[in-house]
Amino acid sequence: MPTNPFFRLPHTSSAERLPELAQFAFDHAGELCDPAHGCCSYHRGWSMVRLLLKGGALPAGGAFIGAGLAGAARDGRCRVLLSGSADTGLPALILEVLAAAGLDADLVIADRCATPIEQNRRFARHLGRNFELHRAEVQTLHIEPVDAILSHSLLNFVPAAVRPALVTTWARLLRPGGIVLIHQKLVDTPFVQDRSGGLPAFCARLETAAREFGHDVDAVARIVQAGSDFWVSHAPESRLSEADLRVLLEGAGLGIVMIERMPQRAGLSPKDEAGMSPDTPQSLVIARRPLAA
Ligand SMILES: C[S@@+](CC[C@H](N)C(=O)[O-])C[C@H]1O[C@@H](n2cnc3c(N)ncnc32)[C@H](O)[C@@H]1O
Repeated sequence: MPTNPFFRLPHTSSAERLPELAQFAFDHAGELCDPAHGCCSYHRGWSMVRLLLKGGALPAGGAFIGAGLAGAARDGRCRVLLSGSADTGLPALILEVLAAAGLDADLVIADRCATPIEQNRRFARHLGRNFELHRAEVQTLHIEPVDAILSHSLLNFVPAAVRPALVTTWARLLRPGGIVLIHQKLVDTPFVQDRSGGLPAFCARLETAAREFGHDVDAVARIVQAGSDFWVSHAPESRLSEADLRVLLEGAGLGIVMIERMPQRAGLSPKDEAGMSPDTPQSLVIARRPLAA
């Protein structure tokens, strides 16, 4: 049994209305995603895969995120920047864990792609809430200071040359004493990716799930094709080691509070679902902007 209190089983959010939002991304990623980013297969497929193969489970790390955000909140609220959001899963998770702690969320979401931004616009409208949405590269953001920043499986999808600017931006956007929470695989030794044979099984599972969900034959075929594209295209930019991360955080003037590796398990990330580095455990990281510079 894992002993870390941050380890919890995944769960879903009925407030998220994922079926509708997954269908929106599936239908519109083609026109919303910027071809230069190469993210269309990922954004078109991820919410649908999460819905059909993960039962709509929210991303991992709820207990860690809840405890971190609660610690950063002031006067009953936490202004939190979600630094990259593939869909509405992390926003739903943030709202849920803060509500469970009796706190309100001022949610700021930044993603360079219009597909998750538009999903979140619909999600906010449905909730009757106001999300501050920025379709922008995080490293170019200029916003009011935040209490906390969440980065969930982002850094390894950002080119190594861009990472210092990104992390320095986090430090600039945090209020003094504010924290960065990072939920991320840290890979210390290069590994050879063996994904042979995984794609047919993945497609077969997706086909069964799509049929059982009630999609007609044509829709099932399109979902399986999108899932296959998702599997083939989705790859991290390059690995990020713990040493790399320490250099990035310290270089930005952020104090490292915790770096902890989670117990080994199958995760909920798109990478795991696509059969990539499934054996590498997630790490949980907290860094703080000092009170006085
Ligand atoms: C791997 S996904 C994040 C996965 C995360 N676990 C989730 O469920 O939201 C990375 C996201 O970051 C976005 N992204 C990548 N580089 C970015 C940047 N420099 N600024 C803003 N968003 C970025 C991508 O568009 C994508 O939506």
